Amino acid sequence: MPPRHSKWPRTILLAGIALLLVSLVVAAVLASVLTRGKQEMGPRRLKWKDKGTTRNLREVILGRCYSYVAARDKDCLKIWESLKQAFIYKNPCNITPEDYQPLMELASHPIPCNKSLFWSKTNDLVHRYTKSNHNFLTLEDTLLGYMADRVSWCGDPSAPGINYESCPKRTECESNPISVFWKMASKMFAEAACGVVQVMLNGSIEAGAFRSSSIFGSIEISNLNPDKVSAVQIWLMHDIGGPQSESCSGHSIKRLKGILEERNFKFNCEENHRPVQLLQCVNNPDHADCRLCSSKMETP
Ligand SMILES: *[C@@H]1O[C@H](CO)[C@@H](O)[C@H](O)[C@H]1NC(C)=O
Ligand SMILES: *[C@@H]1O[C@H](CO)[C@@H](O)[C@H](O)[C@H]1NC(C)=O
Repeated sequence: MPPRHSKWPRTILLAGIALLLVSLVVAAVLASVLTRGKQEMGPRRLKWKDKGTTRNLREVILGRCYSYVAARDKDCLKIWESLKQAFIYKNPCNITPEDYQPLMELASHPIPCNKSLFWSKTNDLVHRYTKSNHNFLTLEDTLLGYMADRVSWCGDPSAPGINYESCPKRTECESNPISVFWKMASKMFAEAACGVVQVMLNGSIEAGAFRSSSIFGSIEISNLNPDKVSAVQIWLMHDIGGPQSESCSGHSIKRLKGILEERNFKFNCEENHRPVQLLQCVNNPDHADCRLCSSKMETP
């Protein structure tokens, strides 16, 4: 048995070595954490003015794809992958139509003649209408439009390649993932139309129901195919009890008529198409415009 007094220095020595090892490990961990932090700070995520990519984008797109009835013969996983490949890790101001070409081809489906319904400034009403009347389809009722409706996405050159914080507004750059997507989807939707097509416009807009700068005015009209589309039927809707800013003989409607007739489409305009107006009446049942029988018929 060694003498008792020699045990202390050895304990102190061992404790010293242990302390040294612990501090080395701590230093190494600290160094790695700090440098990793630096790597993440290196290529900074780009900052934009619009809201960022929708949380759980993959699950939202996949869920909508699988629940879309016409998607039964579509490969939703492939559709999600081609959407992702269109924008991930890319600068969100340099998106091109070519980026979306594979997605457009995978997700497109035929649209029966006489069913296409275009719209401008009637977002809420037109979609309430297509939900209650399955004779008509807006772009948002096709698979592509249904998946992307009110969803946003954009990429970023730095990891993880998707920007959930912010995405560019159209005023920041035209070639952003959302604008390019809707431009392409609208163009395809217009190209696919045949027979008689319907357009629901807002006659309560002071600046005029038809605007050349709208998606309808700038993309859809010019991509209607005169060999397939015979006539364009305008439904000009006024808000119940709201201003009747424009009628079918109004300024912007005349301009639209001119554009369409020049492209050889028959043109027709109807104010307050009754089946649509009845839907507006759900919220205004007591208004005079919503009486089930017109006053003429009520008099004996
Ligand atoms: C489309 O509508 C026109 C005019 O109402 C009609 O003549 C034509 O048969 C319709 N086509 C289809 C496929 O329903
Ligand atoms: C017309 O536009 C106004 C202003 O954007 C909106 O409040 C109103 O609901 C629209 N009317 C229809 C029929 O969509």
